[in-house]
Amino acid sequence: MTYKITVTETSDCFEVAPGEALLDGAERAGVSLAHDCRFGGCGTCRVRLLEGKVEYEEQPFGLSEEEAAQGYALACQAQPMSDLTISATVRAADYIPPEYHTARIEGLDQLSHDVTHLVLRIPSAQDVRFHPGQYLNIMLEDGTPRSFSMASPPSGDLFDLHIRRVPGGRFTERLYDHYRVGDALDVELPLGEFRYQSEERRPLLLVAGGTGLAPIKAIIESLREREDVPEIAFYWGVRGQHDLYMDSALRELGQGFQGFHYVPVLSQPESDWAGRKGYVHTAICEDISDFSRFDAYLCGPPPMIESAKNAFIKRGLPVDRIFSDSFNFTHEIAAA
Ligand SMILES: Cc1cc2nc3c(=O)[nH]c(=O)nc-3n(C[C@H](O)[C@H](O)[C@H](O)COP(=O)(O)OP(=O)(O)OC[C@H]3O[C@@H](n4cnc5c(N)ncnc54)[C@H](O)[C@@H]3O)c2cc1C
Ligand code: FES
Repeated sequence: MTYKITVTETSDCFEVAPGEALLDGAERAGVSLAHDCRFGGCGTCRVRLLEGKVEYEEQPFGLSEEEAAQGYALACQAQPMSDLTISATVRAADYIPPEYHTARIEGLDQLSHDVTHLVLRIPSAQDVRFHPGQYLNIMLEDGTPRSFSMASPPSGDLFDLHIRRVPGGRFTERLYDHYRVGDALDVELPLGEFRYQSEERRPLLLVAGGTGLAPIKAIIESLREREDVPEIAFYWGVRGQHDLYMDSALRELGQGFQGFHYVPVLSQPESDWAGRKGYVHTAICEDISDFSRFDAYLCGPPPMIESAKNAFIKRGLPVDRIFSDSFNFTHEIAAA
């Protein structure tokens, strides 16, 4: 027995066996649903169930309660319990397949007490385009990847990254005492489906947590090339003032746009901080009364993404206008 799955946007049909994930069945049939991590973490493979039911072996953490309540499912984890009709995003026509390259460390500077600016030169990727918002994988000696988002739009063979030090982290700790300018690293790029995709010129709500700033900054910089840039509300959540590692650069960047509103929000502010305090999604909910006007782009740690999604959906932001990139530890989930 198999279940029949119909995708409304494309009228594609495919079969999925009981116990099989929707994404696996779609791939077998040559239907390329958008996806990234395949572990239920990133939320990229989100589909809307129009008819039918699914179940999970384990509730995926990349699907917020509000998304599930509104009938959304994650195709990489959801197993059909009946025939389904789904609304799904098919992989974009301008999808760029990832490739492996050898990079050399071109720059290694401290942006703050725990964030490094790593600049890679990748001559063989000189002509490789990527969409601002995407990431690359640095491959460690044991073959496990470490993911980092490009912090600037394409610029020849240079790729810049903002890397937060993870205490005890095998790769990020070694940026402090092991790697030097000129060292070689194996990389895979470009990866991920997080990118600017708002063609309707709705106001943008951009939300970054910590080094989640990197892909958001790349997207903002790429918008400078466009003539039809909408109003931008950009919130950056960090712990303390010493974590605002690009505050003045961001203020300067905003001056290139009309209607650019930048708000840093500190969750553990020093006593002399006169700006916004608390969780970034709470500050946004205090400021915005009509969420339905916006397209939202969220990037940062998984708990921030989940809280922001739940809060914004509850206040009227349509689920399919939320695009997110969650900084999971994909290699660990894969190993598990
Ligand atoms: C798509 C994507 C894009 C990303 N982009 C960026 C980026 O631009 N900049 C950036 O700084 N990071 C980014 N990350 C996160 C980054 O990949 C991880 O911080 C990195 O892989 C850690 O590698 P490591 O070898 O130093 O740590 P590991 O050796 O992998 O981890 C060491 C230990 O610390 C734990 N740990 C690691 N991080 C945390 C944490 N935050 N909180 C609690 N425990 C933790 C792990 O569970 C593990 O036990 C991104 C992640 C994804 C999935
Ligand atoms: S691909 Fe399904 S959640 Fe990431």
